[in-house]
Amino acid sequence: MILLTGGTGFIGSHAAVELLSGGYDVIVLDDLSNSSFEVIDRIEKISGIRPKFVQGDVKDVAVLNKLFGEFPIEGVMHFAGLKAVGDSFKYPLEYYSENVVGTCVLLSVMQAFGVYDIVFSSSATVYKPSNDMPLSEQAEVGEQSNPYGRTKAVVEKMLADLALSDPKWSIAILRYFNPIGAHPSGLLGEAPNGVPNNLVPYITKVLTGKLERLHVFGDDFDTEDGTGVRDYIHVEDLSLGHLKAYEFLKHHSGVNVWNLGTGIGHSVFDVVRAFERVTGRSIPYEISARREGDIARCWANPSKALLDLEWKAERTLDDMVRDAWRWAQYNLN
Ligand code: NAD
Ligand code: UD1
Repeated sequence: MILLTGGTGFIGSHAAVELLSGGYDVIVLDDLSNSSFEVIDRIEKISGIRPKFVQGDVKDVAVLNKLFGEFPIEGVMHFAGLKAVGDSFKYPLEYYSENVVGTCVLLSVMQAFGVYDIVFSSSATVYKPSNDMPLSEQAEVGEQSNPYGRTKAVVEKMLADLALSDPKWSIAILRYFNPIGAHPSGLLGEAPNGVPNNLVPYITKVLTGKLERLHVFGDDFDTEDGTGVRDYIHVEDLSLGHLKAYEFLKHHSGVNVWNLGTGIGHSVFDVVRAFERVTGRSIPYEISARREGDIARCWANPSKALLDLEWKAERTLDDMVRDAWRWAQYNLN
């Protein structure tokens, strides 16, 4: 049985479907601070199997002790945490507590119960902004522009130190690039509260009339069309990467780091045009000032994951946008 912390969230729910469809038994631990119980019904609807669910906080040792004591958990995918870059400036202690302390508590309980396989959700944001593109796993880590990114870098160090202390640990650090898209059924996707910070949820709110226009954060970057370039990856491709990484851990110990990206960069205007193609509607936008901390370009060299895991992202930007749009139409109204 695999424990998915944060398993009712955007990425965790897709991973749950992937694992259940792959024949794994799944138990979800989530405090529902950024998701809802209905996601469990939807996971069941898609996969035909209902995952076990426990509502609780990953920082709560008593909850974890009970969970590991009651269920035959063999490994963990750790998604639970906070992810809003802007909030991480306002509430740094919450970010360190949820992301760093939460992981520390989880790892202590895993150790106590002799569970040593963990897949951790990291981010491309750990890389130094000055690296050349594309980013391989050898690129320098450091100088994260926000507290959120620093919590991910701290956890990566903690995992490396842990693996050095005991060869029984098998750890996968997955550095996600820009996960977007949704389940093709329209049942699972991303629904941030309030005004979205990220590009795709913002665009779907403009398209559904909830926001007036997109603000393009800068058209004077050193890129082909002047707007920021990112490596957008479909959340379903990302989920398969988790399954492959977990299977790799069965035969390898120590810390293993993989970039999960497509290797292709798309500009803000590329994403806008993809939405216009898919929806047949035009997206009102205006050019605004650059957002603090934004870099011009960021995309992955994903070849290590291909070599080690035989994993490669298959879905195109149009696939991502089509699925995100279906999800938005079914759920945002
Ligand atoms: P999400 O907010 O949709 O999912 C996180 C889930 O964790 C939510 O369901 C939330 O209720 C739960 N949670 C939060 N704190 C908890 C706690 N203390 N105990 C139990 N559950 C808790 O986010 P997501 O997009 O699915 O991201 C999953 C992971 O991937 C996060 O660690 C995030 O930092 C990381 N990540 C996400 C992205 C992205 O763009 N979405 C990019 C890079 C890394
Ligand atoms: C952001 C986070 C990053 C996190 C990632 C997860 C910041 C600074 N970085 O990355 O830490 O790992 O999400 O997906 O928040 N844009 C607009 N208008 C908008 C929103 C975005 O023009 O309303 C542009 C941005 O300037 C950027 C691109 O769209 O060029 C993508 O932005 P976003 O979706 O927020 O992702 P990142 O900033 O790459």
